[in-house]
Amino acid sequence: MYRTNTCGELRISDTGKTVKLAGWVQRTRRMGGMTFVDIRDRYGITQIVFNNEVNAELCEKASHLGREYVVEIIGKVSERSNKNPNMPTGDIEIIADTLTILSKSEVPPFTIEDNTDGGDDLRMKYRYLDIRRNPVRKNLELRHKMTMEVRKYLDSLGFLEIETPMLVGSTPEGARDFVVPSRMNPGQFYALPQSPQTLKQLLMVSGIDRYFQIVKCFRDEDLRADRQPEFTQIDCEMSFVEQDDIINVFEGMTRYLFKTIKDIDLPAPFMRMPWSDTMKYYGSDKPDLRFEMKFVELMDILKGYGFSVFDNAEYIGGICAKGAATYTRKQLDALTEFVKRPQIGAKGMVYARVEEDGNVKSSVDKFYTQEVLQQLKGAFGAEPGDLILILSGDDTMKTRKQLCELRLEMGSQLGLRDKNKFACLWVVDFPMFEWSEEEGRLMAMHHPFTHPKDEDIPLLDTDPAAVRADAYDMVINGVEVGGGSIRIHDSQLQAKMFEILGFTPERAQEQFGFLMNAFKFGAPPHGGLAYGLDRWVSLFAGLDSIRDCIAFPKNNSGRDVMLDAPAPLDQSQLDELALQLNIDNQK
Ligand code: AMO
Repeated sequence: MYRTNTCGELRISDTGKTVKLAGWVQRTRRMGGMTFVDIRDRYGITQIVFNNEVNAELCEKASHLGREYVVEIIGKVSERSNKNPNMPTGDIEIIADTLTILSKSEVPPFTIEDNTDGGDDLRMKYRYLDIRRNPVRKNLELRHKMTMEVRKYLDSLGFLEIETPMLVGSTPEGARDFVVPSRMNPGQFYALPQSPQTLKQLLMVSGIDRYFQIVKCFRDEDLRADRQPEFTQIDCEMSFVEQDDIINVFEGMTRYLFKTIKDIDLPAPFMRMPWSDTMKYYGSDKPDLRFEMKFVELMDILKGYGFSVFDNAEYIGGICAKGAATYTRKQLDALTEFVKRPQIGAKGMVYARVEEDGNVKSSVDKFYTQEVLQQLKGAFGAEPGDLILILSGDDTMKTRKQLCELRLEMGSQLGLRDKNKFACLWVVDFPMFEWSEEEGRLMAMHHPFTHPKDEDIPLLDTDPAAVRADAYDMVINGVEVGGGSIRIHDSQLQAKMFEILGFTPERAQEQFGFLMNAFKFGAPPHGGLAYGLDRWVSLFAGLDSIRDCIAFPKNNSGRDVMLDAPAPLDQSQLDELALQLNIDNQK
């Protein structure tokens, strides 16, 4: 037996016991005739004392232990004279009788402490050492707890956890696939699933009725703080349900997770907002509702006074930042620079301060009388001390997105985006299709299996762009944590959808025949949703990137710097797979 106890376990009530501990050396200090060694495992840190007068040889050996050596000690639990209230084991220490070195360590490339000196790249290269640190390990513990609670909740409602294959066929639509060559079928490729969407629908045809899976998904898309090429979904599907049934079950799960994990009682029911309103009032389909600062459209008020920027604009909109009239010229210039950054792309920003006497002073005073500026103030219900910020542009959607960035920046600057506050929202009534400039055709906004709203089905023939879907996203604090829809369960409607998306009947049959054929054998009405587990954990842990809650994540170029993957294949492997590289053409 290597240990009787963990390094986080012993308390004053254990005084006098002989124990055996094993762990990593956190630090070693020699003080007078004593050597103190802190040993650490996943549960905590315990101080071990070696006394020169009792055993000089052992004390000497202990003083030479390097950081991260793995040791085993036997000793007696003793009350400390110099207690450390900051450590759970701080009331005791172990007076060591034996010391065995189980494994030596080279000097680690960074300090294994909460505040490490290791940069991002180094920590990722030695991720196994990084995981020894409390902040990283705690995120993995939280992730484990969440998956356990999810399983408990869904199991209690009769959901079955069923695995679906990782080697599937490549499908168009959605992101790019990661593909896997098949040795036994030369020239043919599997794809790794972007999600188990069609398979979970087939399980509904199989009568499974309530399915879930905590499942890896793979998407070859550009990476961001909330995106990894492989990530985990809590993927769910239910039969004989309408949108409200699904929303109820998963709102319940959200409330359960918040309560059991964060001890937070969320208000019920969550707010629901149609997609068109989220775009109109917040310029985003995932608005951060921890703060209000709703957009107000100002075309009627501000056009026609000779200020050509506004007169020529298709859209003029603004936000009102409460109490921010104290912003200095320098701060306002910095905000203007912020919106003009290429990633945001606004041409400029107009501001108006509501002064203490109620008068409004704006950066474009020469074009507007106080009467018009008072109308502006009225449109926001602004009060003395408030600051109005206005953007305009010749493309409504683009300008709204710019205003969205400005709103979020103001929310951050004014401290309105507290990580311990949570605002949950269902975004509903998404458009069925969106126009893709790149492809020059309509694309499914969610995916091609989404059911159009019944009342909009006639529009499929006349005005498909106006068709709304039975689709919904759950948004928390401006993060899309999940999304789903009611599905089409009729092979004819499904075929029509593919037709609108530009598939020939042959191609639709080739790509999705398995699903349309299955629907011919008695498909129940069904729908579902998938949560992004990584996003949930980072939300609960208050992380800035989902990487921090993944044991072995990829970097922003999609590389695993620890495994040094991806990497070239040997020629023999390429030959076996009947693959020939054409890298020059890629450059
Ligand atoms: P969707 O594509 O919206 O829906 O994905 C569901 C949720 O998965 C998370 N997510 C990601 N998380 C990390 N990295 C990524 N690259 C990434 N992409 C998505 C998000 C998102 O809300 N089959 C449908 C679900 C359904 O209709 O039931 C689907 O995959 O939190």
